[in-house]
Amino acid sequence: MDTKNLEQSFLTHFNTKPEFIVRAPGRVNLIGEHTDYNDGFVLPMAIDRAVWIALSPRTDSQVRIHSLDSSNAVESDLGPDSAFDLHSLTKGKGWAEYIKGVAYQLQNAGHDLRGFDAIMTGDVPRGAGLSSSAAVELAAARAFAVVSGFEWDAAQMARLAQKAENEWVGVNCGIMDQMASAACKAGHALFLDCRSLEYELAPLPHGTAVVILDTSTRRGLVDSAYNERRNQCEEAARWFGVKALRDVSVAEFETRTKENNDLNANAFKRARHIVTENARVLEAVEAMKQNDIKKLGELFNASHNSLRDDFEVTNEALNQIVACAQEQSNCHGARMTGAGFGGCAVALVQEEHAEEFTTAVSAAYRQRSGLEASVYVCKASDGADIIQR
Ligand code: GLA
Repeated sequence: MDTKNLEQSFLTHFNTKPEFIVRAPGRVNLIGEHTDYNDGFVLPMAIDRAVWIALSPRTDSQVRIHSLDSSNAVESDLGPDSAFDLHSLTKGKGWAEYIKGVAYQLQNAGHDLRGFDAIMTGDVPRGAGLSSSAAVELAAARAFAVVSGFEWDAAQMARLAQKAENEWVGVNCGIMDQMASAACKAGHALFLDCRSLEYELAPLPHGTAVVILDTSTRRGLVDSAYNERRNQCEEAARWFGVKALRDVSVAEFETRTKENNDLNANAFKRARHIVTENARVLEAVEAMKQNDIKKLGELFNASHNSLRDDFEVTNEALNQIVACAQEQSNCHGARMTGAGFGGCAVALVQEEHAEEFTTAVSAAYRQRSGLEASVYVCKASDGADIIQR
């Protein structure tokens, strides 16, 4: 994205140039779906679509943020009796809530926040499963960090942003999206242990393009279905007598469920997905280290089947677009990505044939579903950073 427009708007609005531009990306998860809230493993990468904030610190505690993409704005004071004040919270709707939530959590964690003037813009499609909300949260955290002068600790910021989403916005998400937006590095995926938050950067295989396939379907009721899956996973963890399903291996799963089959049928299927998906993430990281793209593609396909049959979070459009991708001879593997029920899939494709692939999949999907997909090759980018000071 060219930030000239953003700078120009800042100038028009505030009559001066911005002192900083910060940026935080959306993410696509390569593998490890719904494992994060089971203390398991995930492998997301930050994409080259993001939220940008051009800003200048103020000497007082006023925060004024305008968005180029909506009429919604934040005009608040961080001091007592304001929307950010810990004791007099007012909640509204839209992106501003993520910013308020982050400010609230940062203050709650003891950070002394300074005010700023800002213009914000972004190009992460909303509701597509590419974490546009995490991008807003982490860009806001980056903005507060740079004006208030505290160190950027990716894991701490991710945790606070997740808390903002859980407690302020009311979505019970795991930690994956915020960690990806906070800590990713260009050219790599982030192999993350969601229990310890320890991570390793996994280099993307050579000659392979990561392609996002947006079905253009968006599902309502995602939150309630998401929370229902969480509850079923917790029920299964209790049945196994463990803290989280992360603590059950594939072998243990098989022996225990053979010995005794009184685990509720849905909880059984949800648990089988989580247990096998965690194993697939570990295998995927190994395959990436070996540059074994064939194996990685097979793991993608197996993950999709498990999300479709056991976790039951795909919709028809996702199944169709994944099938269209898998049928292409230049595709190594494809799967739905993110929470599911609509949104995007991700495919691994031979780099030199990426363009051919996007055209062919769009046409096949149009024919099969009657819908228009957005298909694009994406680049693994850096997590939240300051791009201009
Ligand atoms: C959403 C949540 C994440 C994660 C994924 C599914 O993106 O925000 O925490 O649970 O769904 O893997």
